Amino acid sequence: MNTITAAITGVFGWAPEDVITNEELAQMVDTNDEWITSRTGIKERRVLKNPQLSTSDMAVKAIEGLLKQTNTKAEDIEVIIVATITPDMVFPSCAALTATKIGAKNAFAFDLNSACSGFIFGLETAAQFITSGKYKKVILVGADKMTSLSDYTNRNTCILFGDAAAAVLLEPNAEGNGVIDAVLHVDSNNWEHLCLRAGGAMKPATHETVDAHEHFIHQEGQPVFKIAVNGMAGAARDILSRNNITGDDIAFLIPHQANKRIIDSTGHFLGLTPEKICVNIEKYGNTTAATIPLCMYEFSHKFKKGDNIILAAFGAGYSWGAMYLKWAY
Ligand code: UT7
Repeated sequence: MNTITAAITGVFGWAPEDVITNEELAQMVDTNDEWITSRTGIKERRVLKNPQLSTSDMAVKAIEGLLKQTNTKAEDIEVIIVATITPDMVFPSCAALTATKIGAKNAFAFDLNSACSGFIFGLETAAQFITSGKYKKVILVGADKMTSLSDYTNRNTCILFGDAAAAVLLEPNAEGNGVIDAVLHVDSNNWEHLCLRAGGAMKPATHETVDAHEHFIHQEGQPVFKIAVNGMAGAARDILSRNNITGDDIAFLIPHQANKRIIDSTGHFLGLTPEKICVNIEKYGNTTAATIPLCMYEFSHKFKKGDNIILAAFGAGYSWGAMYLKWAY
């Protein structure tokens, strides 16, 4: 029997200093603070303004903080996974750029694209490197510069997204703490509801695609909302029942931060009291692959060794799922 689990032994988040408030957005599109706050829970979001900087630079900031916090040398890192849908460029990977910038010269590195589920899909992937016994130090970063895909003439989407990165270190654990289980899904039947319409191999960039704003996020909010509620709550329910635990056994839920109403209904469905639900959407909006680790970072001072923690996400694909962790420190 394999007695080694993959545990998170450090977490560090980073977001740029510049902020876009609801009031500022109301000067760009026909919206207002009351609508945005009541429909989404978002008050402001961060933006990486410096045009010289991109997603890999945010990933670097998160990893540098993580290495310092965990007293780890960059050259000891063996694998780096960057969960992102906003790599600096289509290729080379954001992870390759990130690894070289931090001096991780003994690591191999790759990107993982699963939109808002990127962190949980990445965590399940990263955990396999540890439990295989072959790797001892794996870094997973969720990093997205969502403002690079945001259309500031479209009120349906530009109010939702922001920029951030957050990283975790995974190491072997012999005490039974760390990643316990994952329930992960994809179903692309309704992929058109949430996508970037052009710029991929199916529809390369042309003057027409640029003119039609097809290089910005497209989302049909209502159908995505409905299926996100069911998807996140359903996956979380499945992981609880599969592991014979109930809401009473959960110390914290760290949900993807897309909409406060989706977060609340997932928590309600699991029977969790509000203090068990980690929420920071009001400060950052939806930072896609970065929401869960950034929230984990901001709430980690409350976590105790052995705490049962549930992660849950829903995003483009559709892709969704939930994970069950036992906090390791
Ligand atoms: O992270 C990946 C997964 N994504 C999600 O989970 C997001 C899921 N969807 C949502 O969070 C919500 O659907 C939104 C926040 C995107 C939209 O909220 P909604 O309550 O579903 O609003 P709606 O799209 O149904 O729009 C209601 C009304 C419409 O006006 P009419 O047709 O009723 O006159 C919209 O045009 O609100 C209008 N509206 C706005 N009004 C002011 C849409 N956006 C805005 C806005 N400000 N920014």
